[in-house]
Amino acid sequence: MESKLVSQAFDRVQADAIAALVFEDEPASAELAGFATWLEELRSSGEFTGKPGELAVLHQPGGVVAKRLAVVGAGKRSAFDAAALRRAAGTTVRSLKPKGVKTLAWWLSDGDAAAVVEGAILGNFEPDQHKTSSKDSKALEAFLLAAASISSEVQAGFDRGKILADAQNFTRELVNEPANLMTPMILADRARAMAAEAGLECEILDQDRMRQLGMGSLLGVAQGSAEPPALIVVRYRPAVKPSTGDHLGLVGKGVTFDTGGVSIKPADGMEKMKYDMAGGAAVLGAMRAIAQLKPAIPVTAFVPAVENMVGSRAQRPGDIVTSLSGKTIEVLNTDAEGRLILIDALTYAQRLGCTHLVDAATLTGAIVVALGTVNIGAFTNNDEMLARVLAAAKSEGEKTWHMPLDDEYKDLLKSAFADLGNIGGRYGGAISAAWFLRDFVGDTPWVHLDIAGTAWLDDAKPFLAKGPTGVCVRTFTKLAMGW
Ligand code: BES
Ligand code: ZN
Ligand code: ZN
Repeated sequence: MESKLVSQAFDRVQADAIAALVFEDEPASAELAGFATWLEELRSSGEFTGKPGELAVLHQPGGVVAKRLAVVGAGKRSAFDAAALRRAAGTTVRSLKPKGVKTLAWWLSDGDAAAVVEGAILGNFEPDQHKTSSKDSKALEAFLLAAASISSEVQAGFDRGKILADAQNFTRELVNEPANLMTPMILADRARAMAAEAGLECEILDQDRMRQLGMGSLLGVAQGSAEPPALIVVRYRPAVKPSTGDHLGLVGKGVTFDTGGVSIKPADGMEKMKYDMAGGAAVLGAMRAIAQLKPAIPVTAFVPAVENMVGSRAQRPGDIVTSLSGKTIEVLNTDAEGRLILIDALTYAQRLGCTHLVDAATLTGAIVVALGTVNIGAFTNNDEMLARVLAAAKSEGEKTWHMPLDDEYKDLLKSAFADLGNIGGRYGGAISAAWFLRDFVGDTPWVHLDIAGTAWLDDAKPFLAKGPTGVCVRTFTKLAMGW
C-alpha cells in the first residue's frame, strides 16, 4: 500500500472513499456541514452516534469528488487520544477494504498525523503471506492523508508514523512465518538483509563462535535441534556519541519454535509456538525504525535465535550447563528455555558495552494468567530505567504494567546441585522467570518485558488482524528517540 499526504479541500479529494471523524459529544466539523441532515438521521436512529468503532457510509455524497463519504466515531472528546485515533483509522481501513475501496482518503481534522498513518498501515496488514488465492481482492492500494494545508508538523508526523508502522509490520511478517520457514538461520538472514538495507552493522555469531565464548546456556537449548542456532547482533551508531557514554542494548527472545523440549508441551495449540521469537522480531523491527529516525544514543540489538526441539541430542531435565557469565544452571524444565538463551545474550550485551538493557520475550504462560492479553508485564532492577520505558510505552499506546520483583521471590530459583535452577515452581511464574534474568544483569539498569500475552491476537480486532501484533516496536523506538 502506498501512503501519501495530499493538500486539498475536503470536497476536492479524489478517492474511493473519504473518511472524517465525528465526535460523540460535539457537532460535526465544518467540512461535513452539507451532510447535516444525514448525520442527524444517523444520530436519531441510533445507527451512528459517534461512539468509537462506529462507521457509516454514504455513496455518491453530493458536492464531494470522493465516491463515498465515511463518518467514523471518535468517541468522547475527553477520551480521545493517539491510541483512539490509531484505532479509528485502523477500523476504517479494515471495514472499507473488503468493500471495494482501493484508495482511501482520511480527512485530518483532529489529532496527530502519525497515529492516523500508523492505524491505517497496521490495519491494512493481513497475515496471508502464504495464501495463494483471494488475498489481492482485499488489499487497500493507497492511503491518502488529506488536509487543506500541510504544516511541517503534519509532514513530520506522517513520515514518523509511516516509518514506525512499516517497521511494526516487518516484525509481524517475521512472527507470522511458520517455523519451517523461519529457522534461526533464516531469521539471521532476514536481520542481515534488513541491516544492509537500513545502513546498520550486522554480525551473526554461529555455533562455533558461541562455543568458543562459552555460551553453554544458550547452546544447551539449541542442541536438540538440527537447525543451528545464531546470535544476531545489529548495531546503530549515532553521528555524534553522547557525552554520557550511554549505550542502549535491546535483547529479544528468538525461539523460532518452542516444543518445550523433553519437558514437552501439550499438542493442543502448540502450532502457536512459532511466535516464540516475537521479542527478537520486535527488536529487529525497532532497529529498522531507529536506522531511519536516527536517535542520539547508540543502540545495539541482540537476538539469540534457537529452536527448542525434542530428540536424541536434546538436553534433559537435570542437565547442568555453564552460562557465559560462569554461573551454572540446573535445567529443571527444558520448556523454560527462553531465560536460558536470554541470559547469555544479556551477558554478551554487557561485555559489548551496553550500559542500559531492555529485553522483550514471550517468556511465560504465567504472565498471560496475571495480565491477560491487555498489558505487557514489566520487571526491573532500576526504577529510573523503568520510568523511561513506561513513559515510552504510554506515549505509544502499548499498555504496560509494573510487576513486582521483591527479593523474597529470588529464593524460588534455588538448586541443590548448581548455582541456580531454571524454574521457580507453580506460583508467581512470571516473577521467578524475571528474577532468573535479573540474577545475570547485576546492577546494569534493566527492564524485562514479558510479551507472551500481547504479541499475538487469537481473535481479530476491528482495527487489527488476527495473529502477530508487533508489540514493543514502537515502545523501543520511542525509548531510543527520547534518550
Ligand atoms: N514460550 C513459552 C511461554 C509462552 C506461553 C509464550 C504461552 C506464549 C504463550 C515459554 O518458553 C515456556 O514454555 N514457559 C513455561 C515456563 C515453565 C516451564 C516454568 C511456561 O510458561 O509454562
Ligand atoms: Zn518453553
Ligand atoms: Zn518459549
